[in-house]
Amino acid sequence: MYNNLFRTLMALALAALFLSVPLVSAQDAPVATGEDIVCPEGEAEITLGGGAVGAEQEFAQRAIDVFTAACPNISVEILQMPDSATERLNLYLQFFEAQSGDVDVMQVDVIWPAIIAPHVVDMREYLSDEEVDAHFVDMINGQTVDGRLVAIPWFTDAAGLYYRTDLLEKYMLELPTTWEELEEAAATIQAGEVAEGNTNFAGFVWQGNDYEGLTCDAHEWLVSTTGDTFITTDGDINVSDERFAALVERAAGWVGGISPEGVTTYQEEESRNVWQAGNAAFMRNWPYAFNLGNSEDSAVAGKFGWVPLPNGGERVAACLGGWQLAVNKYSESVDAAAQFARYITSHEQQLQRAYYIGQFPTIAGVYDDPSLAEDELFSAAGPIIATAFARPSVVTGSEYQAASAIFAGGIHDILTGQVDVETGLEDLEIELEDFVADLMDM
Ligand code: GLC
Repeated sequence: MYNNLFRTLMALALAALFLSVPLVSAQDAPVATGEDIVCPEGEAEITLGGGAVGAEQEFAQRAIDVFTAACPNISVEILQMPDSATERLNLYLQFFEAQSGDVDVMQVDVIWPAIIAPHVVDMREYLSDEEVDAHFVDMINGQTVDGRLVAIPWFTDAAGLYYRTDLLEKYMLELPTTWEELEEAAATIQAGEVAEGNTNFAGFVWQGNDYEGLTCDAHEWLVSTTGDTFITTDGDINVSDERFAALVERAAGWVGGISPEGVTTYQEEESRNVWQAGNAAFMRNWPYAFNLGNSEDSAVAGKFGWVPLPNGGERVAACLGGWQLAVNKYSESVDAAAQFARYITSHEQQLQRAYYIGQFPTIAGVYDDPSLAEDELFSAAGPIIATAFARPSVVTGSEYQAASAIFAGGIHDILTGQVDVETGLEDLEIELEDFVADLMDM
């Protein structure tokens, strides 16, 4: 499993790296023609449960416009889902529980295949083998449960460190490569900027809210210090290593220091807002923040870079994320929903997403498109993707969400000072041990 994942990440990293060598001159922006759309028969109104992080929703609307122009018998509405992956899943679970078809197509997280499997249709019935095989094989395998393709990969995610090039220069600092160096550089820049009158200036922003995002951030601390996930593939619990404890302690010290007090309520968008307003020296975030950071209304346009996260002593570790589309089996318009999902995850639409909003394709061939050859984000992507690791969603299967909630909750208690690091990690270990014992009994 992990060898396979490693293979995919290397393939992705190489695909992205290849792009950093401009072989062709700048190309015209890619156009979505919709020529591969297959229109379902009959009229149908379908609903896409989708995210609105960054430009996602606006962009989904553009894809919908192409699809509905080709198939005027189908209308598609977006039902805006909560930004938090945790809340989004809880909402989907309520729909499933009620066997409701109110949301036909669902944007689903890479860690949920075993959770959603009983409630979604097999997308292999709607995609040709060629279409399935165009995706990285391990991403397809990751979304395959008992031989059924429960969701079509849409885009993949790996987190990195955003840093202000102008401020590193101003304070004559090197790019930090360890957590300690990051802390020092963040503190120096913050002190300087605050002294110049920007009292809102933060050294480092990240995702400290109690939700799936914190599982990612804290998991980066964990994997970078110990090399392994909080539940290992063998079902062992890995939260008691002293190198991890030291980093959690350090992170707890960031709260109200180099990071705003409110960072323990931040999700991706809260961090990006502070960063994009020019009020942070460093930010941990996903690729979606790159193009937005360079947009016209951004205070940091042209003043930042994106590199692998700091090394924790053992390695560099980026949380591997990503989203897919699944079709709700309780939908009244399964065919229309599946054809719509098929189109918006297609090569053409993945290229649009990559080019315009900087989300990483799951179809290998998209990386070869000349329109991405000189793309700044894709040039930076290779080394970051190469550091990605998966959360333990295979070993925990349909119980992943519960495991993740225990991990994020335990870390959040420490970050907010409700418990000291030692006691907090001991409690976390006991809770996870109970969880795994129950899992084995299931
Ligand atoms: C991003 C990732 C997703 C992850 C989430 C956590 O959206 O793609 O996999 O669960 O962030 O906030």
